[in-house]
Amino acid sequence: TSPRLTFHDGRTIPQLGYGVWQVENEVAADAVAEALEIGYRHVDTARGYNNEAGVGQGIARSGLARDEIFVTSKVPNQDQGRDATLRSFDATMEDLGLDELDLYLIHWPAPEKGLALETWKTLVELKEQGRIRSIGTSNFRIQDLELLEAETGVLPVLNQIELHPYFSQPEHREFHAFKGILTESWSPLGQGGGELEDPAITAIADAHGTTSAQVMLAWNLALGNVVIPKSVTPERMVQNLAAVELELSADEIASINGLHKGEAGRQGKHPDEFSGHQGA
Ligand code: A2P
Repeated sequence: TSPRLTFHDGRTIPQLGYGVWQVENEVAADAVAEALEIGYRHVDTARGYNNEAGVGQGIARSGLARDEIFVTSKVPNQDQGRDATLRSFDATMEDLGLDELDLYLIHWPAPEKGLALETWKTLVELKEQGRIRSIGTSNFRIQDLELLEAETGVLPVLNQIELHPYFSQPEHREFHAFKGILTESWSPLGQGGGELEDPAITAIADAHGTTSAQVMLAWNLALGNVVIPKSVTPERMVQNLAAVELELSADEIASINGLHKGEAGRQGKHPDEFSGHQGA
């Protein structure tokens, strides 16, 4: 099982979780039940993934006590604004079959909507009512985080952003650390793309007798980030969780830090865009 990190609100989160972006609702129940069986204790979903009902069934099937599992979901762009967010949250909880959510995030800042601040105030309200244990953001730019702080004085416990070796977000991580916000990495495996074959990464994997995926995850964990790799392949799910055991040397970490390509390494949507669709 994974070590835990502590939020600025005092709560804790398993550092390595199971991400279910691109897991179809039809397979989500089996996949989540399998992940919990393997030993994952943290599941990251979103209203926009259209799989919360499946995720909820997987959680129920595990038979684990509620407090043994950490569950995250997210408000989709189209549900930003106070009333829509309250309705969206109720639907999420209904589908997940939960009374309290561990962590609720605003999925994207969606700048064209101009509703991120109102949505954030609604999350603060839900936390005060005890329906959400911790509140955070996803894909927020530094200026978005500064707006929340200036207007509400409440910062997210974490900000979930795209982060993998070719796109390692050094400026964002530095800002988060300065503000006491944890960084959470989506697509830590670069969506199964070229980094898995990068010679610098395969060399480190060979030296440790592990896989490239484990090296990428161990590097991300060593930076102090929360990571949520996705896989629907049981053998890979086991492998990814076992990355918490892999310790890299300072030189190995530095060599992976050197793979950063800036904007050219980004694979997903830029938060400046508001296209209405959800993405990761
Ligand atoms: P699959 O789900 O078919 O096993 P990310 O989390 O960065 O978005 O990456 C998810 C992608 O990486 C999926 O296509 C997933 O495939 C693949 N993947 C997950 N774990 C591994 C692994 N240990 N080795 C290789 N590919 C993996």
